[in-house]
Amino acid sequence: MNTNTERGAANVGVIGGTGISQLSGLVRVGEHDRETVYGAPSRPIEEGLLNGQRLFFLHRHGSPKAIPPHLINYRANIAALRDLGVTHLIAINAVGGIGADMQPGRLVVPDQLIDYTWGREHTFDDGHNGSLQHIDFTQPYDRALRLAIIDAASNAGIPHQAYGVHAITQGPRLETAAEVQRLARDGCDIVGMTGMPEAALARECGIRYASICMVVNAAAGLGDLPLTLAAMHDILQREASAVRNLLGELLPRLSTWGPK
Ligand code: HPA
Repeated sequence: MNTNTERGAANVGVIGGTGISQLSGLVRVGEHDRETVYGAPSRPIEEGLLNGQRLFFLHRHGSPKAIPPHLINYRANIAALRDLGVTHLIAINAVGGIGADMQPGRLVVPDQLIDYTWGREHTFDDGHNGSLQHIDFTQPYDRALRLAIIDAASNAGIPHQAYGVHAITQGPRLETAAEVQRLARDGCDIVGMTGMPEAALARECGIRYASICMVVNAAAGLGDLPLTLAAMHDILQREASAVRNLLGELLPRLSTWGPK
């Protein structure tokens, strides 16, 4: 256990995705390179200070080789953060926009999700401890953490959507136009590939979890630009910088929170 938890403060973790392989401005104070019983996390976890506030940072896709969304060891990532005492976890996800108010360049703090992934190791409950675990996942994101993110974004003047249904597809390919139409009919506002099982695993561990989604493209069939990483690059850069500012505003607020 680390000292922050012993003092009773929130212990913050950040999981970065596409476009956020480093947290610019993070002053590194340590690195944690530990295996879990589920294997190794995507990359050693950095411990650092952002504007003087301590956090743990993990890049979901790892390096030097990028791990595709369906092959990320989500269980190892969450277990490693849990073992470091992380109590509050902020996930950053790149997504495509579906709803009319989910244009590229927008940050979204989703309040709901629909899981379309398959075949991923999606639970810590392997049936071996003799008691079934049916977590309450009615609200998949932690409400208080979401509200703190929204409040911080408003305070910093960062345009954002405070609600949204996050569809999580299997990838690594992008969707067909018909699939995006189906997601729209299902009520989805944004679509990404990495939001699950991460959110459910965090809930299984009792870690408070919320997501900041960066809309980097109009979802398939909805926009004019080609769906290439190169086309998304500039938007991704701008949004990564907005996320960095948002975290700078958010972290001091969390430092006065208790662990639960
Ligand atoms: N679909 C799924 N995942 C994504 C997208 C998308 O359009 N853009 C960024 N990640």
